[in-house]
Amino acid sequence: MAMKNKTIVLGVTGSIAAYKAAELASRFTKDGFRVDVIMTESSQKFIAPLTFRNITGRPVVTTMWDIASEFSVEHVALAEAADVVLMAPATANTIAKIACGMADDMLTCTVLATKAPVVIAPAMNNNMWANTITQENVAKLKKRGFTFVGPAYGRLASGKLGQGRLTGLDEIYGITLQALGRKGDLAGKNIVVTAGGTQEPVDPVRCLTNRSTGKMGYAVAEAARNRGAEVTLISAPTALAKPPGIKVMDVNTAEEMLKAVQSAVKGADALIMAAAVADFRPLKKADKKIKRADLSDLTLELEKTPDILAQVKGDFIRIGFAAESHDVIANARDKVKRKGLDMIVANDITEKDCGFGTETNRVTIIDSKGKAEELPLLHKGEVADRILDRLITAMR
Ligand code: CTP
Repeated sequence: MAMKNKTIVLGVTGSIAAYKAAELASRFTKDGFRVDVIMTESSQKFIAPLTFRNITGRPVVTTMWDIASEFSVEHVALAEAADVVLMAPATANTIAKIACGMADDMLTCTVLATKAPVVIAPAMNNNMWANTITQENVAKLKKRGFTFVGPAYGRLASGKLGQGRLTGLDEIYGITLQALGRKGDLAGKNIVVTAGGTQEPVDPVRCLTNRSTGKMGYAVAEAARNRGAEVTLISAPTALAKPPGIKVMDVNTAEEMLKAVQSAVKGADALIMAAAVADFRPLKKADKKIKRADLSDLTLELEKTPDILAQVKGDFIRIGFAAESHDVIANARDKVKRKGLDMIVANDITEKDCGFGTETNRVTIIDSKGKAEELPLLHKGEVADRILDRLITAMR
């Protein structure tokens, strides 16, 4: 992702959850963003500006009236520099001020003056959140295009349970990237991605499946979201967290995946089949658990599953994956033709650092004419972006 040169203005307000903003600042900084933190006066009672200064390596704005600050000359400098403004945690008080158009500190000033997308992650007492006044403020801001993420239900500062906790940092992170990419090169595009290995039941306990972890497909879905696409992720069972800002359809079997794909591709611009669909399934699923005593004369009869990519055709780009253990390019070229694809992403699963469960992959992208482009070993997120670059060219 081209995060360099992107500026996130992180607004921190006076909530006990303010310490979590340090973790967010750290993640964004590590991922290559420029993070400029604005702290309200009350937030500084909970966490020191020095923390953010050291994490981001940038000056932290703590007041409008510091003449030594590089931002103070032009009090809307950060509003203009921001590619996205994230307020996390956002108190009821700051939300109310923004809803009223007030600008009495650097954070509210920046929010009022910016043209960048604004993401708000509230954190407050559950009664304050539920109060009609807060809810009206939130509704008003949502109507004006502000994005809210959370709050979550859980243990609050009061020790009681309720809705008001700052939501999970993964969710805030994902929604911020989505907001950042709203006008990206896939804006307005509808993309369907499949991921994970399907599970074909033998009986209520056992199934036939494969070693796919879903990482490549999830990386493609997230990269497409970060570039502005509306993404539907059809996921076979995986241990991965659901990516925020993406519509996820959970399926188990190849048959269920086929049905989900058929319904999701209506109006889609592209189908990217990163799922490892089981090629065969037990002819019959036992209704009850097969007992050890029955195993001596057990024969599993198998039948083919539907070939989803070969069957689902339409007015959209179709991209397949080919995880091969030998004759990678020849096999992949054959699949492009056989399934009538616009392109296929081939990889050799026997190579080091490639294939199932790894964070990286070395792939070759082959187009419908059989032309191959070999990519170096890359993080799966970068592989995803390269595939999307090719998709954009194909859509033109
Ligand atoms: N695929 C599919 N439906 C299936 C099997 C595979 O849609 N029943 C898709 C996969 O998601 C992948 C592409 O087809 O994008 C190639 O999958 P792969 O398993 O490599 O190919 P197969 O057609 O199963 O061929 P082979 O078993 O000979 O490798």
